[in-house]
Amino acid sequence: MEKSKPYVILSAAISIDGKIATRTGNSKLSSTEDFIRLHKLRTKVDGILIGKNTMMKDNPLLTVRHARGKNPVRIILDSKGEISSKSKILKTSKKVPTIIATSKQITKFNLQKLRKFPVEVIVTGDKSVNIKSLLKKLAEKNIKTILVEGGGTVNWEFVKQNIFDELIITISPFLIGGKNAISFVQGDGFDKISKSPNLQLKSIKRLKNYLVLNYLKV
Ligand SMILES: NC(=O)c1ccc[n+]([C@@H]2O[C@H](COP(=O)([O-])OP(=O)(O)OC[C@H]3O[C@@H](n4cnc5c(N)ncnc54)[C@H](OP(=O)(O)O)[C@@H]3O)[C@@H](O)[C@H]2O)c1
Repeated sequence: MEKSKPYVILSAAISIDGKIATRTGNSKLSSTEDFIRLHKLRTKVDGILIGKNTMMKDNPLLTVRHARGKNPVRIILDSKGEISSKSKILKTSKKVPTIIATSKQITKFNLQKLRKFPVEVIVTGDKSVNIKSLLKKLAEKNIKTILVEGGGTVNWEFVKQNIFDELIITISPFLIGGKNAISFVQGDGFDKISKSPNLQLKSIKRLKNYLVLNYLKV
């Protein structure tokens, strides 16, 4: 039977104090070995999803480079379609399949800008992208597994709406601090620990000075 949503894995490299970037947006928290691990994982999923701020701050390619294998579909949550024409994502959209997920907030101007690129534009949601509806549409396109690579605002939505299945987190040997530094999960947070999803530790892998933790939601 066809599933109504893809299998969702949340993925990040975090400091010991749970940050995914410094207050200035510096987010290079992975080691070379960890990048290789991540890129191998990318070859096994159908899609990689990120939020607009990560796209703007990091200008990532989201392709497979440190391993051999196919590129997953890149999915960007960008309610107003503000992604820059000069971004690596749009510049490489002829070669790498790309979906820009937007909402009703997208302007005609931005829609026309996106139409100049070979990307698929999905419009769902009033103010921001309706993630549940997006996941349903992705499942209909035979996208069965998605790696969510942040940032914290997007991670919170997946946690709050209880629409993830697995977590793979690299704990990097850094202490960053800063009340304005982005945490792995942002948003308002839960008021009680009992509201946290139940997570079961499936495996721990040591990559030199880094730890890769794999949790399943139970
Ligand atoms: N260490 C790591 O592994 C790692 C990984 C990823 C990112 N990062 C870092 O994380 C930082 C960015 O995180 P962030 O929390 O500021 O932003 P983010 O999660 O990357 O992006 C959030 C934005 O996505 C858009 N969006 C559209 N629909 C959404 C929805 N339904 N739910 C949530 N967001 C939606 C919103 O902007 P619009 O309303 O304008 O569309 C929202 O403000 C960067 O500094 C980046 O370097 C680190």
